Amino acid sequence: MKLFIDTANIDEIKEINQWGVICGVTTNPSLIAKEGRDFKEVLKEITGIVDGPISAEVISLKWEGMLEEARALASIHPNIVIKIPMTKDGLKAVKILSKEGIKTNVTLIFSPNQALLAARAGADYVSPFIGRLDDIGNEGIYVVKDIVDIFTLHGINTNVIAASIRHPVHVIEAAKAGAHIATIPYNVFVQMLSHPLTDIGIDKFLKDWEELNK
Ligand code: E4P
Repeated sequence: MKLFIDTANIDEIKEINQWGVICGVTTNPSLIAKEGRDFKEVLKEITGIVDGPISAEVISLKWEGMLEEARALASIHPNIVIKIPMTKDGLKAVKILSKEGIKTNVTLIFSPNQALLAARAGADYVSPFIGRLDDIGNEGIYVVKDIVDIFTLHGINTNVIAASIRHPVHVIEAAKAGAHIATIPYNVFVQMLSHPLTDIGIDKFLKDWEELNK
């Protein structure tokens, strides 16, 4: 399973990119709004840091508007992937963009049927949201697993991005479910890294070393 970072914060992207563990970035309108900066400027900056797919979401709800936004965003850099919401208009836009060679990530996926429709329309990526399903009492990970199983069974090569990840257990579950990619917030990367036994181990090694050099 590949790892993307789910943020529009430049410092967070730079930090995790330096760890050498990510190969892509996902953003959404809420994450961009949190930064309070020009959308296109932020995207340009991200493309200069990570050499991999960078998802940028359209705001229009009509397919014509989605196409216009998508073409403008795609012209920023060849690595830009257009995030399109899972709606009728979204599917129409995906179909046209895929014919134009513009990559798409269909977002706000909450069921295997939605994922199947997005894939058949020509989406390169689908993003099922684990955390938001958990929030309403459904186990989001089963949706990811079903989508992966269906795509595998039918030879569909759309990538499944496990999204709306809230904690390290979601990452493990996504990996075990066969998600191709997990897009992970900065704080969850930090939680994945940490283990109290690692800290205790380092402390002991250093103390023993100091004893030797006394
Ligand atoms: C990524 O593609 C999604 O926009 C993001 O993971 C949503 O996460 P949230 O449900 O924590 O807002």
